[in-house]
Amino acid sequence: MPVGKKIEGLMERSSWIRKMFEEGGRLRAEHGAENVFDFSLGNPNLEPPAEFHKVLNELIAEPYPGRHGYMSNAGYLETRQAIADYLTEEQGVPVHADNIVMTSGAGGALNVIFKAILDAGDEVLVPRPYFVEYGSYVDNHGGVLRLVDTNPDFSLDLDGISAAITPKTRAVILNSPNNPTGRIYPEGTVRELGRLLERKGAETGRIIFLIADEPYRKIVYGDTAVPSLMAAYKNTILATSYSKDLSLSGERIGFVAAGSGIRDIQKLMGGLVLANRILGFVNAPALMQRAVARLQGVHVDLTFYKENRDLLLGALRGSGFTVPEPDGAFYLFPKSPIEDDVAFAQELQERLVLVVPGTGFGGPGHFRIAYCVSRQTVEGAIPIFEEIGHKYFG
Ligand SMILES: Cc1ncc(COP(=O)(O)O)c(C=O)c1O
Repeated sequence: MPVGKKIEGLMERSSWIRKMFEEGGRLRAEHGAENVFDFSLGNPNLEPPAEFHKVLNELIAEPYPGRHGYMSNAGYLETRQAIADYLTEEQGVPVHADNIVMTSGAGGALNVIFKAILDAGDEVLVPRPYFVEYGSYVDNHGGVLRLVDTNPDFSLDLDGISAAITPKTRAVILNSPNNPTGRIYPEGTVRELGRLLERKGAETGRIIFLIADEPYRKIVYGDTAVPSLMAAYKNTILATSYSKDLSLSGERIGFVAAGSGIRDIQKLMGGLVLANRILGFVNAPALMQRAVARLQGVHVDLTFYKENRDLLLGALRGSGFTVPEPDGAFYLFPKSPIEDDVAFAQELQERLVLVVPGTGFGGPGHFRIAYCVSRQTVEGAIPIFEEIGHKYFG
């Protein structure tokens, strides 16, 4: 056996998202790319904004010695300072450059956090449905992911979170706007969660961190703003990236920012920086750090995603599907017309429409549509959704 037993097990249970994406490759080869409507992967189809290309050209024209060499494992101070200034405004609390570590995307950020804060057997709570990679990220560092139910409308069940907290609880992950539901947790709820974690932390005698996983923070529609978790709870650690809002998912650039009110913050930062190094990331990609320093607040054109969202939402609801209102991100999470969401995704796949069964997110009975796709894909799939809606809802 060329692989270890643990990874073998993980490979067998490998993510539904990837499974559907790979299935898409096979179907495209068989039926032609234009006949396959692939909503399986959250890979932004928009190009990065023009500002990104401009900054990249400027950076290439500005050579200086050492630009390709090792740097502080936390990342360039210039970049961390630009981010700290931006976050101080965005989060409504002071954020310091010393409390930021540049990482290889949000996935890298989460792994760095778990490496730094977890002891073997520590528990991390997450409301479900959830981004399924959390399970592997927590397990990578000896922790155990515990799923907590949400309410039927996917709002947080604070009593459920409270009941799930044990002396082993080290962190709670909150992903807002949420993948896969598109939900944003309102300010009142996150403040109440902050108070709950403060109280429970005092009871259990250890800090319970709130990990804000926010790669979709800038992808919001309408007037809804994403409330600041840092302002709601002092033991918040933010993990994010430019993968989605600048369409830089392949460039692997993101960061961790820790709340300045965390006790022994210098020790935490030392742990995060060391984790970045010994996980083998060493530091985040240098050129991208330089680029994002000059692109604070810039994001892709959200009108394209909003139009995709509205077209699909209108067609699905119009043909009988129940679809919770998504406030942000680029996902819809409709209810499956039959209980078995895997069988329903299979039925769609037979019609060359690829979605991910909710089971893949710990949210059975639903399916996820990633609408960060071309307009042709949206328009091509709509008649198929309508026909299937007709079949089930009349
Ligand atoms: C909720 C969530 N967190 C983290 C990530 C990882 O993002 P990145 O590509 O920046 O590592 C994703 C990617 O899809 C995501 O949906």
